[in-house]
Amino acid sequence: MAEKILVTSALPYANGPIHIGHLVEYIQTDIYVRFLRSCGKDVLYFCADDTHGTPIELNAAKQGLKPEEFVARFYELHKKDFEDFGISVDWFHSTHSPENRHYSEYIYGQLQAKGDIERRDIEQTYCERDKRFLPDRFIRGTCPNCKAPEQYGDACEKCGKAYSPTDLIEPKCALCGTPPVRKHSAHLFFKLSRHEAFLRELLKRPGFLHPGLATQLQSFFEKGLADWDISRDGPYFGFAIPGETDKYFYVWLDAPIGYIATTEKWAKETGRARSALDYWGPDSPTRIVHFIGKDIVYFHALFWPAVLKVAGLHGPSEIKVHGHLTVNGEKMSKSRGTLVSARAYLDILEPSYLRYFYAASLGPGPEDFDLSLKDFRLRVNGELVNNVGNLANRALTMLAGPLEKRLAPGREGPGKALVEAALARIPEVREAFERLEYRNAIKVIVEIAQAANGFLQAQAPWAKVKTDAEAARADLSDAADIVALLGALLSPVIPRVTEKLFAQLGAPPLTFAALEKARYPLLDRSRPIGTPEPLLPRLEEERVNALIPPSPEQPAAKEAPKKGEKKAEKKPAEAPAPTPQASPGAGAGGAPADIEYDDFAKVSLRAGKILAAEKVAGADKLLKLTVDLGEAAPRTIVSGIALAYTPEQVSGRRVVVVTNLKPRKLKGIESRGMLLTAEHQGNLSLLDPGDMPPGSVVK
Ligand code: 2FM
Ligand code: ZN
Repeated sequence: MAEKILVTSALPYANGPIHIGHLVEYIQTDIYVRFLRSCGKDVLYFCADDTHGTPIELNAAKQGLKPEEFVARFYELHKKDFEDFGISVDWFHSTHSPENRHYSEYIYGQLQAKGDIERRDIEQTYCERDKRFLPDRFIRGTCPNCKAPEQYGDACEKCGKAYSPTDLIEPKCALCGTPPVRKHSAHLFFKLSRHEAFLRELLKRPGFLHPGLATQLQSFFEKGLADWDISRDGPYFGFAIPGETDKYFYVWLDAPIGYIATTEKWAKETGRARSALDYWGPDSPTRIVHFIGKDIVYFHALFWPAVLKVAGLHGPSEIKVHGHLTVNGEKMSKSRGTLVSARAYLDILEPSYLRYFYAASLGPGPEDFDLSLKDFRLRVNGELVNNVGNLANRALTMLAGPLEKRLAPGREGPGKALVEAALARIPEVREAFERLEYRNAIKVIVEIAQAANGFLQAQAPWAKVKTDAEAARADLSDAADIVALLGALLSPVIPRVTEKLFAQLGAPPLTFAALEKARYPLLDRSRPIGTPEPLLPRLEEERVNALIPPSPEQPAAKEAPKKGEKKAEKKPAEAPAPTPQASPGAGAGGAPADIEYDDFAKVSLRAGKILAAEKVAGADKLLKLTVDLGEAAPRTIVSGIALAYTPEQVSGRRVVVVTNLKPRKLKGIESRGMLLTAEHQGNLSLLDPGDMPPGSVVK
């Protein structure tokens, strides 16, 4: 039987909005699933809301709602966030559902029948006023270690020490402030300790878990695996445990069962399977892949596989663990305004930008990664808008305009070589997606686009079109092949953009499966192209900064400087406004002063062509350029454009150069000239003299 793949993302709590931190996981999973679908695999993707537990119950009460009503509201919001971010789940369900109750009871019954449930009397912290047992997070007191006040019952946020609530000095109920008491109650334990050998073997299985994380989990075995308390006393929002009075399944028992419940719901609603057991049954040829954050590895790699094994069900095949997102180099925080909700993001920006940036940053491991607003803007503008978008726009606009939307048949020459070289890189991209090395996939994709832009620059079809339209058509048709290839390769990452791209190409979307047999020419050259339109506007600094509005803790939403980058010097607020005397060339209030025509005539401006470009060691902002100015020898110019352009992006570009500046040394390199750029809110664009040959006078 053909392999089926069932993929999940961890279930968000129905206790607050989805935010950009959650989206790392949903976007990572969605890219994987879209890639597999594009490869023609039989893949399903499920997620659901995680609805049970004390925090949800109490938050609902605070809002005067029943927990059922409270979680129903979040369900609608989360579902819409998923849709609007293009997270292509096959079903989004809820753990507060009949399907989840059914499978929770079934699995518990199996655990009982196999002798894996044990009743034990335990003593816990209880509030007599609220008439409830208090989870550790609902007990506050002074840390026994560092004496910091107002610490939770499980660990001190100040010194990091873990302890039990009974160790707290002067403990209080976090709800009402009353000192709690200790009270006995019978609890049900899953005998995890009986499954140590199975779990040790599982963690050794290649591909099951990131090896570093598998090693970390060994410490649980060294301490001795503790049995797991799966029951909670009422009041509790959850499923009542059959055969017990006022006892409920602990939220972490029924949460992962939500994966099965969602499969069941999907099967019932779509009729595409008899039941969830087609996937989760012991003999099912299913590869079950869970995507999770590094904070919940313990539940997914130890409890969950052991529970499924005892219940006679199919366990996870792979657990993919990602790190956490930081924003501008710091942990996300409500008070700093960096805990941006999915909805707040969508109110400002198109989701494709974030999907692209996350893909460009993500690797397969559990390392954290940063969303610096500045890098976000520069990368998206530099790679996606200027590189990929610009290629598509240049190629298709010319084909649609002067060349009447008709493509040329394939032919021998540099265009064919370009396309064949790009096709040869498909396996690299495929493997990178398979191994969750998305940042490598993006790197190759960007290189393919850069090569094609370089090709157009060299062939200059905009010049040829006037004299030899068919030669221009051939160049542009080869560039259109690359656009189609980029559309296919980027389709898991920015599907909405690539859909538009294929519509503009007038071609059906290309899949990874189709790419297996791809040959030059890639596009059916007998079809007319569609109507080109700009794909994605540039990210403007103002809009990006609006994602993080000023907060009391961070009054100005300025982009944080990168590590090692110097902050702009702050001028004292009371500094006098520059005067013409103090600052030549600037009028009162900073407006440029008028100059004589003769003064401007002293500046020599010429069209040039960048022949080569490289980074300057130790200077983030500088590129060393070799520029042809139509002189006997090209000049070296050191230019501060490296934050906006990579060396590959500028090689071959035509530029406008101030040629009669006195030479100056930058980082020890003598620079002879200056490139003209246009700048708007920090976005930089090189001025382009069109197809004028190097040395042409600009005036
Ligand atoms: O940590 C969390 O946000 C949990 N709601 C994840 C649950 S994943 C699965 F087990 F349901
Ligand atoms: Zn209380």
